[in-house]
This record gives sequence, structure tokens and C-alpha cells, in this order.
Amino acid sequence: MNVSLPMIIDAPPSSPVQSKNSLFDSHGRQIHDLRLSVTDRCNFRCVYCMEPDVKYMPKQQLLSLDEYIKIVEIAMSLGITKLRITGGEPTLYPKLLELITAVSAIGIVDLALTTNGSTLNRTMAEQWKNAGLHRVTVSLDTLRPSRKDAITRSHTTLKDVIAAIDTVRDVGLTPVKVNAVILRGVNDDEVSDFAQFAKDHEIDMRLIEFMALDAGKKWNRTDVVSAKEMLERIEQEHTLLKEKDSTSSTSMNYRFPNSNGRIGFIASVTQSFCGACDRLRIMADGTVRPCLFSDDEWSMRSLLREKASDDALRQFITNAVWAKSAGHGMDESGFIRPEKTMSHIGG
Ligand code: GTP
Ligand code: 5AD
Ligand code: SF4
Repeated sequence: MNVSLPMIIDAPPSSPVQSKNSLFDSHGRQIHDLRLSVTDRCNFRCVYCMEPDVKYMPKQQLLSLDEYIKIVEIAMSLGITKLRITGGEPTLYPKLLELITAVSAIGIVDLALTTNGSTLNRTMAEQWKNAGLHRVTVSLDTLRPSRKDAITRSHTTLKDVIAAIDTVRDVGLTPVKVNAVILRGVNDDEVSDFAQFAKDHEIDMRLIEFMALDAGKKWNRTDVVSAKEMLERIEQEHTLLKEKDSTSSTSMNYRFPNSNGRIGFIASVTQSFCGACDRLRIMADGTVRPCLFSDDEWSMRSLLREKASDDALRQFITNAVWAKSAGHGMDESGFIRPEKTMSHIGG
């Protein structure tokens, strides 16, 4: 069937492919993984992400619960099997539990959520689990109470975030991934402590190279601590056993003898994994962004609000994915950083 899109101004270029039950970009990559941001609001102001005086999207531009559910239904019909609910801080989205319940009922195979852990408690974690959420990723960039406020520019306590990590693990929202962005001169002296934390708490710790996505636009290649350097530092204190990673894995993973914990390194800058990228992002206001680092993005909000047909929505996403850029080139000269931050785009 030939679907022509209604007249919309903000639309991806048309692609040579008609929508079917799989999504491919023009570089031959198949897209399985949708990151859906449900808010750009956050109660933290992490130094590598937001600035204190952030300007949020106007509330009326944010999608409704039904619109988010519609997006997930359409994405699933296009072969998306993984969904990560992100933000901003997704626990600030008032209808989060309803969204989890609805998308789980549609039958998404792998349903995950990323949170900063500051608002999480046991009741909430149990509700998520019962509603069908499979796993949770928590951000934690320091193990030193004295550093927490300086990195997150907030006053939540480290103890609470660590308790949240243990809670989601105990409730069975596993594997629990814990993300730490490593910044030179800020927390790079903690890499071995993070390895110990992974062992002690039996979680998947991931140490992440700092990417040029900070709102302050202070990113500098010299601030990046490479995965290689982190690994070498940790191996001085811990025995690491290499795991076999799946082709779409963003992290290079290791385990420890005698612990269920693991540690992974996300070398987005020094060993880009763009060639195997299977991700698509949709922001809280319905903007479709095929690549974190390309400012090419198109809003499907008006299509959703005008109750466009499912075929038209499918073709919109198919065209946007076709236009996904090949990669970011962050480690190359001539790299141009994107305008938006991770909190805006969705983690
Ligand atoms: P799942 O496979 O859903 O468990 O996610 P993940 O293992 O990729 O982890 P997560 O979504 O927590 O991402 C971890 C980190 O990888 C992010 O904080 C980013 O630093 C980086 N990352 C994630 N997605 C992308 C991407 O599309 N491009 C680049 N360059 N980096 C990414
Ligand atoms: N570089 C790398 N990762 C980032 N994140 C946010 N900003 C950056 C950045 N500049 C990631 C962190 C956080 C998640 C929500 O987004 O891993 O845990
Ligand atoms: Fe908020 Fe996450 Fe950005 Fe930190 S990294 S400011 S927790 S959105």
C-alpha cells in the first residue's frame, strides 16, 4: 500500500521504503530499541547534563498518556521490541505507572526505565514490577557523600540513591544497571570503588565516557577518561573476567570471580558503537530523533493530535529512521556538538 502523509511542515524527508513490520535505516542497521522520554524535567542538575537555569518545554507541548501509548503501539508494529522509558527524570511524570501498565499490556518484550533514584521507594518499585516493568537503570556518579551535591547540584542523599538501587534489585527489576559518567578531576579517582560497589551490591556497574551533551557546553576532549584508562586503573586492584557482549551492547562487560556483580565500560567517545546502533529516540513532546548526536529531528505531535491514521504514523517513523545519521564523529576533528542535552533528548 502506498501511504502519502498529510500536509505537515515538520516531517522527515520521504524514504524509498514503505512502512512494514521492520525498521531499517539507509546504512543497513535494523532498529529494535525505542527510548521514549516522558518529561524533560529533572530534580537534579548533573554537571555533565543540565545547567541550573534550564528552560523546560512548555507543558502544553508534552504528549498525553494516550499519545505515548499510541507511539509505543505504532513502534511495536514496526518491529521495536525494547522500550526504555527515560527523561529528564521519568518519576516526575505523573502518569508513569499508567504508562508502564499500558505498554506492558501491549506486550513489549523488554521494558526498562532510567532514573536518578532520588524519588524511588519500595512501594513504587513493587508497583512498577507488578505493572510489568522488567528492569531499572539508576544513575550514580559518586560514592562519596561529600561529592554528591556538587555533581548533581541537588540535596538528595547518597544513602537514599544506594537504598533505591538495593530496592530495585530486591524487588527483581533486574538486571539492575548503575550508570556513572566519569569526569577527569571530578570522580575518576573512584573507578576502583565503583568496581567494589558492583561486587558488594551485585549489580551491573557501568562507567561511561563523558560525551559532548552537557548543557553548559563545557565538554572538552581532555575531560574524557577513556574506557581503556578506567580498565587499567581497575585491574590494578581487581581481577576482571571478560564477558562475551551482544552485538548491540553499548558496554564492554566484565565479571568478577566470586560475585554476581559485573562492571562494564561505555566507550562512546573513544570506541564508538554507532555501527551497531539499533536505537531510536522520541522526546516528551513527540519529536522523533534518530541519533543522539544529529540535530535532525521531526515532530509527530501534530500528526498525533490530528488523529492521523496508523499508516501515516508508521510511514513518518519509517522515514525518520531511514534518515538516521551514520554516527557522531566525537573523536574526530571537525566534530560539531548537538544543540540539545541528554535530559532534553532522553537518556
Ligand atoms: P539497555 O540496552 O536498554 O539496557 O541500555 P544501555 O545498556 O545502552 O544503557 P543506557 O540506556 O543506560 O545507556 C548508557 C549510556 O550509554 C548512556 O548514558 C550514554 O552515555 C550511552 N548511550 C546510550 N545510548 C547511546 C546512543 O545512542 N549513542 C551514544 N553515542 N551513546 C549512547
Ligand atoms: N555524557 C555521558 N552520559 C550522559 N548522560 C547524561 N549526560 C551525559 C553525558 N554528557 C547519561 C548518564 C545518565 C543518563 C540519564 O544519561 O548516564 O545516567
Ligand atoms: Fe537529571 Fe539525568 Fe540529567 Fe542528571 S543526567 S540532570 S539526573 S536528566
